[in-house]
Amino acid sequence: MLSIGVDIGGTKIAAGVVDEDGRIIASTTRRTPATDAELIEAGVADAVTELRAQHEVVGVGVGAAGFVDADRRVVRFAANLAWRDRALAEHLETATGLPVVVENDANAAGWAEYRFGAARDAAHMLMVTVGTGLGGAVVLDGRMLRGSGGFAGEIAHMTAVPDGQWCGCGRRGCLEQYTSGTALVRSAKHRAAIGDPVMEPLVAAAGGDREEITGPLVTRLAQQGDPGSVDLLHDLGTALGRGVASIAALLDPGAIVVGGGVAAAGDLLLEPARAAYEADVTARMHRPMPTWAIAAMGNEAGIVGAADLAR
Ligand code: BGC
Ligand code: NA
Ligand code: ZN
Repeated sequence: MLSIGVDIGGTKIAAGVVDEDGRIIASTTRRTPATDAELIEAGVADAVTELRAQHEVVGVGVGAAGFVDADRRVVRFAANLAWRDRALAEHLETATGLPVVVENDANAAGWAEYRFGAARDAAHMLMVTVGTGLGGAVVLDGRMLRGSGGFAGEIAHMTAVPDGQWCGCGRRGCLEQYTSGTALVRSAKHRAAIGDPVMEPLVAAAGGDREEITGPLVTRLAQQGDPGSVDLLHDLGTALGRGVASIAALLDPGAIVVGGGVAAAGDLLLEPARAAYEADVTARMHRPMPTWAIAAMGNEAGIVGAADLAR
């Protein structure tokens, strides 16, 4: 039985035909017109039409970066996209004629890591996706936590710093403002703007224009040993580790999986996160430490998880 998984990201729509073992057997992409909800739906429908022309599929799963309702049909709200009470499943069913299930993007990626990836041997897992935003997925006793309204696992909007940076969700001090690709770039630009000398190699690599600094550039320089870039990832990892420690007090996961674009930094992100977690988590002398791993399925997790949840 085949299904189609779709991952709606900040810059592209990625879609694939996925089999029951989580293998992608065909795939395609479209550019995401991030601010136009109708164009996003047209892009998804177009990608689905292309894929189903070659393969018999039973349905479509869509991973969306926002608060998805418990019926998995409507995106109620998105902190970083134009969705407000958007009936995504209905619109896509009309456009494609196939049954559609909508999932939170991090839930979809987390489900793929739990079923087929870095957490396949764990019963209690926390997945965090560090990208444009900060995503979370919680699997406890082998079940994904959804909550009463479908909004469980929205770790981005837990308070990290009271009265801190404003967040796209309308509150202040959310963890996402300290632990995301967006936060990484903002912090780099800010430190460059106030003349922090350790940012000079990064600005030079950005062609001398600090406004051109990007997340992948920070990661590349950090991997080459640039101290300023290593420091930026260290700060981000520390905020992540503290946030996960707070989450662990409530949920006690056995496996932590870190994905999203910034996870390309590997140990440069994972090691400071783990260190901050171990220094900060409650009952640390008496608690079994969880395993920490970078997501095994990379960019494909969202497609595979959404397709699997649609089955
Ligand atoms: C949103 C989540 C989403 C995450 C990653 C957050 O800002 O609130 O719904 O999963 O970003 O895209
Ligand atoms: Na989630
Ligand atoms: Zn927020």
